[in-house]
Amino acid sequence: MKKAIIIFGSTGNLMFKKLIPALDKLIHKGLVDDDFRIYAISRRDNTIDDYIEIAKEHVKDHIDWERFKSHLEYLIFDVKDTNDYKILKKNLIKDGYEDVSVYLAVPPKLFPIIAKGVSESKLIEKKDRNKRIVFEKPFGEDLESAKDINRELWKCFDENQIYRIDHYLGKEMIQNILVVRFANIIFEQSWNRNAIRSVTILSKESEGVLSRGDYYDKIGALKDMLQSHLLQMAALILMDKPKDFSSESIKDAKVKILKNLNFNKDKLILGQYKGYKDADNVEKDSDTETFVYAEVCVDQDEWKGVPIHFVTGKKLDEKRSEIIINFHEKNDLGEYFPKLKPQEDKLIIKVSPTEGVEFQFSVKEPGLSNNIKQASLDYCHNCKAMENTPEAYERLLIELLNDQRTLFTRWDEIETTWKLIEDLKVHKQTPNIYDGYEDILDILESKGVKINDL
Ligand SMILES: NC(=O)c1ccc[n+]([C@@H]2O[C@H](COP(=O)([O-])OP(=O)(O)OC[C@H]3O[C@@H](n4cnc5c(N)ncnc54)[C@H](OP(=O)(O)O)[C@@H]3O)[C@@H](O)[C@H]2O)c1
Repeated sequence: MKKAIIIFGSTGNLMFKKLIPALDKLIHKGLVDDDFRIYAISRRDNTIDDYIEIAKEHVKDHIDWERFKSHLEYLIFDVKDTNDYKILKKNLIKDGYEDVSVYLAVPPKLFPIIAKGVSESKLIEKKDRNKRIVFEKPFGEDLESAKDINRELWKCFDENQIYRIDHYLGKEMIQNILVVRFANIIFEQSWNRNAIRSVTILSKESEGVLSRGDYYDKIGALKDMLQSHLLQMAALILMDKPKDFSSESIKDAKVKILKNLNFNKDKLILGQYKGYKDADNVEKDSDTETFVYAEVCVDQDEWKGVPIHFVTGKKLDEKRSEIIINFHEKNDLGEYFPKLKPQEDKLIIKVSPTEGVEFQFSVKEPGLSNNIKQASLDYCHNCKAMENTPEAYERLLIELLNDQRTLFTRWDEIETTWKLIEDLKVHKQTPNIYDGYEDILDILESKGVKINDL
């Protein structure tokens, strides 16, 4: 069946930064057929050659533009005009494209308008499993708006035609969580409170808000990072073994654990970096948080008493995203192998920029002493890859084109994570102003939070 992808928002940042490079790689790797077609939809009055020239200015990656153009069709389109959708549909039928993915890389306020146009023109009809529609993050700005959007979407499409993106799920090491957990008996057997003392889910950025002030100031770190990426990571780390590894079973397991998370309201700490209010399109008296520390406990037997720490923020000391599993301290070796200082094993899943898994554990120090020291097994995932490891969007696009839903979020995942954030928002305070990373550590310490993993 001939496949096509229709991209609304083809003149946007996401298209130039992520989608064109990812599509070009899929073409280069032969993962799409020669007749695969990309419809770039835009309201701008360009020819296809104008569009390629504009794209060349914005896309930083190396692209084989001739080859890319052979798959491309540029369409000038008014998203409010039903007739334009009908013309597009006729085009698809005439050229024999029956397997169609519609991708909305546009501001969320356009989601309902485009969804309605796509549905009313029968570009996508309910029950047609060869047609699907993709929505970018953020899916709503809070629980109510997410519900409103979803209600409109369900009028037009079946749930299994709707793909909601959280691009973290396309990252290599996020997919690796399931493999590390369930393909290694050493971890599978010890993945509970008997062995695990705490978990830290960390996503630090060194940059500030850059040019995204307009979007970010209305959203903040709680919604931009915690509601989506960090809670998705937590779900994959904490969920029970799915009954099988089908997309639906994995989602069932994620929703079950998400429903059992309770934020410790007294442990919420917010920060805003010094200078944030001077960024473009940020309110001068903004109290939007650019840093969040939060802690949840899990209301499920195997995780009772294990704190899960979330740390995310901008303008910190480095860009680093990791999941750190801290095991209980252990030494039953008595006086023969006295410890110099308490040691605990650690498993670190490195998400970015380094991708890999590190296991820190105790060994005897070399030589005649009987001291114990820490050793480390450090697997670098991106160093081992023959080519660069695929970008998240490359993975997400190929899964989408092959109608694989595991890496996309189901409505009840979104709904549950929004509920958790709504709950926390009640306890939102004015953020602490921080000037650099040391400040953050001081603020955390002054509030009684001391985490070695930071
Ligand atoms: N950029 C990222 O890295 C990133 C990451 C995660 C999620 N997202 C999400 O992806 C979506 C797109 O982001 P972006 O950064 O690409 O945004 P953007 O650079 O502002 O581009 C938005 C696109 O939507 C089009 N558009 C805007 N208003 C329109 C209207 N009234 N009618 C028709 N087209 C309209 C724009 O067309 P014109 O060029 O004609 O204005 C442009 O092609 C957003 O939902 C965003 O939250 C982006």
